[in-house]
Amino acid sequence: MTVNPPSSSSSTIPRGPVTATLNFATPLPAGVQAFNYTSTPPAGQPKTNVVPSPQSVVIQDIRGRESSFTLDHDAFEIVRQVAPSRETEFVDDASIAANYYPEVTRLLLSRIAGSTRVVIFDHTVRRTAGSAARGAVLNVHIDQTASSAAKRVVRHLGPEAEALLQGRYRIVNVWRPLNAGPVESQPLAYASSASLRDEDVLPIEHRYPEGYVGQIAGITYHPGQEWYYLSGMTGDERILLECFDSEALKEGSGVRGGRAAHTAFNDPRTRPDAEGRESIEVRALVFGP
Ligand code: OGA
Ligand code: FE
Repeated sequence: MTVNPPSSSSSTIPRGPVTATLNFATPLPAGVQAFNYTSTPPAGQPKTNVVPSPQSVVIQDIRGRESSFTLDHDAFEIVRQVAPSRETEFVDDASIAANYYPEVTRLLLSRIAGSTRVVIFDHTVRRTAGSAARGAVLNVHIDQTASSAAKRVVRHLGPEAEALLQGRYRIVNVWRPLNAGPVESQPLAYASSASLRDEDVLPIEHRYPEGYVGQIAGITYHPGQEWYYLSGMTGDERILLECFDSEALKEGSGVRGGRAAHTAFNDPRTRPDAEGRESIEVRALVFGP
């Protein structure tokens, strides 16, 4: 793949290494279960017992060396020069599923060696403007844990789950910006999975009103974590963000954790009147080999 600078590169786009504040979680005492109620908590309970811990972190720009990061080592990978999507508006969920999902499936099957099947289970569009819009996430997290990944397989694959759970299964987010030009505000940062220790991962119960309990992970800070972003990301680029890889649980597999902690961040270099970041992330189960 050739490495070209983004076509609309402009001096207002923040580039290069940056020091920014990332919101980590404070470790909890041993034996205390972290939780977060997704809506109103039961009487007498706080909404969450996770205490934020903002830290100033150096985030390196991977622009120009995108291909040195791989799913097996870092749990993230950059894809460049992706053909324009059939979907152009990204406002209607059914249209996104009809037009964009098949493209994401093809991308994952072609980029992930040995993958044989992709099951997309949801997507989130983020826009700064608009009352119903979801914005950027400014907390360091991983979308799933080992137990919630296996639950996903059962939930979406039903009777096939038992057999599929014997093989390799992963959860991968395909993230792209939707801005017309390069991203100038609230880029996504991710830590190389190889630099994240198991003890940095804090499983958090996500308690839904219906009683359903999911699990995500918050991250506690450690100076060994290596943080990255891709400056001025454009609409023909994708981040593959792996949240879980069953192979990482096997001794000697060579997979370094298979989970990329990530968060959006406010870049102190962003112009005050810069356009808000818009993006879509599509979450997929990837099976095989
Ligand atoms: C994700 C995610 C946050 C953001 O894609 O899983 O956490 O601000 N995104 O885009
Ligand atoms: Fe996420």
